[in-house]
Amino acid sequence: MIKRTALSFAVAFVLGAALAAPVMAAEGTPHPPRNKWSFAGPFGTFDRAQLQRGFKVYREVCSVCHSIELLTFRNLSEPGGPGYSAAQAATVAAEFKIPDIDDSGQPTERPGRPADAFPKPFANDAQARNTHGAVPPDMSVLAKARTYERGFPWFLLDMVTQFQEHGPDYIVALMHGYKEKPADFQLPEAAYYNEYFPGHVIKMKAPLTDGQVTYDDGSPATVDQYSKDIAAFLVWAAEPHMEQRKRIGLQVMLFLIVLSGLLYFTKKKVWSAVH
Ligand code: HEC
Repeated sequence: MIKRTALSFAVAFVLGAALAAPVMAAEGTPHPPRNKWSFAGPFGTFDRAQLQRGFKVYREVCSVCHSIELLTFRNLSEPGGPGYSAAQAATVAAEFKIPDIDDSGQPTERPGRPADAFPKPFANDAQARNTHGAVPPDMSVLAKARTYERGFPWFLLDMVTQFQEHGPDYIVALMHGYKEKPADFQLPEAAYYNEYFPGHVIKMKAPLTDGQVTYDDGSPATVDQYSKDIAAFLVWAAEPHMEQRKRIGLQVMLFLIVLSGLLYFTKKKVWSAVH
């Protein structure tokens, strides 16, 4: 009985998924191509040099419009991150202006401190909308928030292969997705055509061009490289303790395997008189 219920659930699940897939395909947004990421999989770790490059791209390009309000400057010097020293993180903080209140109660600005978060580059949403046509979303968890449906049968496979890098793949694709609009496409004013943005109408002008940011480590100064680096940085920003989480996860699995063995032999011993 239970077996049959489980089976019908499984059939319903698979059928439902298969029916849902064509709906997404009909929207006309292609799936972002997959990239190789050092942080993918249960053993994945961040590439420090890549995080530093990604931070440089954020600092010089994206931070003009996007905040990362859940990330503090001191996170930059914590283990598992881009590997800056505490002094370097403090220097970065001091380059940002943080809104504050002075002793007489008036609003003022002061240089950032390590405990401050990456500030908003605009006073309020209305101002941002006026300047940029839309509010640039905060980047704290953008790499996790922006995913896409891979559809059947991929999502089943993804559970096995532990594929979770939808977010960074989407960000890379979005940076590459600026194209000439098709002739019959109605593009509103002050908007841009992007192949990978749902609906294709995005208010953000293509933020990256080749040669815009210079890297000290000899990595190519191309949009392709920039977009991978900024995507990796945003994955770290969304989960600064990912490496620790994966390490603890592995330790727990090892512990459970050893514990299962011990329990098995204990059971054998306890029941030996009965058998
Ligand atoms: C000139 C301002 C500006 C700059 C610079 C900028 N953005 Fe944006 N960004 C925007 C605006 C405005 C939106 C909202 C677009 C919309 O909703 O149509 C946006 C949206 C986004 C989104 C969300 C797309 C979605 O799915 O909703 C991503 C991802 C993004 N930007 C990445 C970046 C990255 C990476 C950089 C730096 C390389 C960057 N942006 C630089 C203004 C900017």
